[in-house]
Amino acid sequence: MTEILDVIQNRRSIRKYKSTEPDTDVIKKVLHAGSMAPSAGNSQPWEFIVVKDEFAQSISQEFYNFAKGYIPTADYIPEDKKRMMLEYSKDFGGAPYHIVVTFPKVEDISKKEQILKSTGAAIQNILLQAKADGLGTVWIGSQLNHSAKVKEILDIAEDRNIAGIIPIGYPDMEAVATPRVDVDSKTRWLGF
Ligand SMILES: Cc1cc2nc3c(=O)[nH]c(=O)nc-3n(C[C@H](O)[C@H](O)[C@H](O)COP(=O)(O)O)c2cc1C
Repeated sequence: MTEILDVIQNRRSIRKYKSTEPDTDVIKKVLHAGSMAPSAGNSQPWEFIVVKDEFAQSISQEFYNFAKGYIPTADYIPEDKKRMMLEYSKDFGGAPYHIVVTFPKVEDISKKEQILKSTGAAIQNILLQAKADGLGTVWIGSQLNHSAKVKEILDIAEDRNIAGIIPIGYPDMEAVATPRVDVDSKTRWLGF
């Protein structure tokens, strides 16, 4: 049995995919993992939309329209990475499917936080189960989540927002081991 820490440590954002379509049963298993996430008061605020073909192409077009303006001027992206990122934004690195995760809009800030925390947990479960099944993913949480055009393409109700768009498919790149700050520098132990 794979240790969960192996899956957690080896999951990395994948930005280039093979065109091979994963079996929909595997996608269902990944969504099941998402739906098993903890949620505030067991509210399960998430909903999932799985898209391919013309739906995937239409939202990719929106992503590219946004990225064309954004990436060249983004100070925090190293110059040598910009070309690769623009290329990937054309079609999310060729991912055959995307999972779009939505949550209900609410005014109350504390309810909104509960909803977003819960939806984030569902997304993390999705990323980890996908990794465990040999699939790559990346959580796209950029401006694209606020695109009225994307909501229209996906027929998302007015009272819901997008928490993430997750390209999913078999990786066609070596994962880049993005660094982490040592956990000790992020932890305080009290009363030990
Ligand atoms: C809330 C959230 C939003 C993100 N949005 C984007 C995004 O818009 N585009 C992208 O390429 N990656 C996005 N990412 C992926 C992060 O860049 C990535 O997780 C981080 O650099 C660490 O790398 P790793 O996932 O390979 O460990 C997002 C991740 C999170 C959690």
